[in-house]
Amino acid sequence: MSKNYYITTPIYYPSAKPHMGHAYSSIIADFFARIKKIQGFDVFFLTGTDEHGLKIQRAAEKNGLSPKDFCDKISITFKNLSKILNLSNNDFIRTTEKRHFKSVQYLWNILEKNNEIYLSKYSGWYSVSDEAFYNDDEIETIEGEKKSKLSGSKVEWVEEESYFFKLSKWQKPLLDFYEENPNFILPKSRKNEVVSFVKSGLKDLSVSRKSFSWGIKVPSNNEHVIYVWLDALTNYLSALNYPDTNNKLYNNFWPASLHLIGKDILRFHSIYWPAFLLAANIPLPKRIYGHGWILSGEEKMSKSKGNILDPIEIIEKYGLDPLRYYLIKEVSFGNDGNISQDKLESCINSDLANNFGNLCQRVISFNEKNLNLIIPKEIKFNDSDLKILNNFKNNYDELLKFIDDQDINSYINYIVDRLFASNKYFNDEEPWKKKNDMIRMNTIMYVSLELIRKICILLYPVIPESCMKVLKIFNIKESEINFESINDNNFLECGKKISKINILFKKIENHD
Ligand code: MSP
Repeated sequence: MSKNYYITTPIYYPSAKPHMGHAYSSIIADFFARIKKIQGFDVFFLTGTDEHGLKIQRAAEKNGLSPKDFCDKISITFKNLSKILNLSNNDFIRTTEKRHFKSVQYLWNILEKNNEIYLSKYSGWYSVSDEAFYNDDEIETIEGEKKSKLSGSKVEWVEEESYFFKLSKWQKPLLDFYEENPNFILPKSRKNEVVSFVKSGLKDLSVSRKSFSWGIKVPSNNEHVIYVWLDALTNYLSALNYPDTNNKLYNNFWPASLHLIGKDILRFHSIYWPAFLLAANIPLPKRIYGHGWILSGEEKMSKSKGNILDPIEIIEKYGLDPLRYYLIKEVSFGNDGNISQDKLESCINSDLANNFGNLCQRVISFNEKNLNLIIPKEIKFNDSDLKILNNFKNNYDELLKFIDDQDINSYINYIVDRLFASNKYFNDEEPWKKKNDMIRMNTIMYVSLELIRKICILLYPVIPESCMKVLKIFNIKESEINFESINDNNFLECGKKISKINILFKKIENHD
């Protein structure tokens, strides 16, 4: 099996500053990038900004800036957010970069050469906010305004000369592909929606616009710019130096292992993108996962609705790892999740301060007081020690399956369960009563330290910064973290010194 893993986030529209929905997509992608890395995979993790199209052109006009100046200004806020979120991305692509133009125009030329594109006239509905064309039956009139039934966004009537991609001819091959690759689109419920949409018939897709200029030009006709979704989706290839298919990045990382996206952009990724690739004879990505929306008060968070929880403000107030943990643990992955500061505070107190933080603090303070911050030497495991230590090994295959199925909630619930079990172990074994039986005290300490180490490795992809603080006391460096080592019960070297630990998570006072 190939030990390369290519994961992508959607590239974000720099039409306004980033919000929690964007942070969510990025944090989840980072979780997968980090977990694969510690499993020994060579990981390429890509994120970036999607800078062309009418949506951006209009946002720039509204702000009195040229589209490029506007994009430069907002794109940097997304780039900064990836640092604030502690993303381990290898690249940040902007669709206004030269390397991207080159890929998109190359792909266009192939599609044209393969007779997949023809010139005609488009007349129909278009949503600038979604940058999407909609059929008549996907439109409804609300208070005199035409809107998309799917997204609720306003649509406008468009009539202009346009190039079309022969999407209709890919209906059957797409359905065959979905059938042969049952896990190509996840979660299953979303896959079923896509399959029925494709079964209901695909119309050829308008892939160029003539009435505005902010985009990549059709190479053979300068009056047209390439449809922003054909442009944007190609970012996944341009970051690998496509069309240079002999280069190392493309060779190692295409096809992508996982395109992680929100459910609202599933149609583009699971229908248009594979159809473009099939038409250009390029291998298809292995998986598209459409996560749910982060809701605030039952609604999708969005600028137009004014219900944005600002990730940067939340991080300033509570810290990054609490936010990462909360979003990963409390949102049922694949479904929509309603978030609130109140629930975030409960989560910090119950899981991070009382469970994880408490385990680390009490074990290491006990060691400091009684064993001089030394990993004990004389130890002898009994059955209960082996039972709790071996639990990781016994569940190893299942953990790997959770990861490969993107079953994040089962993965993290396993960790929470182990945290409870480890705290209980320390309580029940009462090392403070073993002053006359040093071997037993040493053993309880050794087991507890091993439990902390194993749990930190499992939690590292979720809260990397906090786990590193703990792993560093054992002198384990970030580059040395090895997922498989959770199976080892004697990893920690007896007699070695460990360091003290500072408080990991402060409890939020006055919160029930
Ligand atoms: N530019 C396109 C993506 C092109 S990918 C080739 C786009 N950009 S976006 O900025 O509007 O959205 C980017 C991602 O953020 C999408 O996956 C979208 O689902 C996600 N989110 C935006 N708001 C969201 C929530 N409130 N909740 C969760 N994610 C949502 O679409």
